[in-house]
Amino acid sequence: MPVSTRIEEVRNEITALAQASSTATEVMQGVCRVLHQRMLKYNWVGFYMLESGATPPMLVLEAFVGAMTPHTRIPLNQGICGAAASSGKTIVVDDVSKDPRYLACSLETKSEIVVPIFVRGQVAGELDIDSHFAAAFGTEDQQLVQYCAEVVGKKLEKA
Ligand code: SME
Repeated sequence: MPVSTRIEEVRNEITALAQASSTATEVMQGVCRVLHQRMLKYNWVGFYMLESGATPPMLVLEAFVGAMTPHTRIPLNQGICGAAASSGKTIVVDDVSKDPRYLACSLETKSEIVVPIFVRGQVAGELDIDSHFAAAFGTEDQQLVQYCAEVVGKKLEKA
């Protein structure tokens, strides 16, 4: 199956699961399950959400699929996760060994994408995906992951 066909199918699955879910947590769990199962190079998929009212601000691991990570709480000045949340920008790292910001979660990880989730214009968390393959996240992957982050943001806005 061509990659673009799979991405289109997965996008439709995400749309359907968001419509069928009653809470943002359910959407997050579904996104983790679908992306991990269907996108073969997405070896760890998880959500970090900003802890409400925390000083200093802290990203806390919520739904995820993949091996347990030592990084369950990440301050905004650490890691690729902290950089994405503090800048409000998607970060794609093709080779994590060359990025000094990278916090290792698994020795097998070669590339990573982190996409912020916005709720009413403010960063509320992010979707983080690691791959055992270098440069696993191309333009279409980036669009798919951004779509998933938007779907979760919209569900949170309705909560
Ligand atoms: N690699 C991330 C930490 C989270 S784990 O990958 C699950 C980072 O550099 O922020």
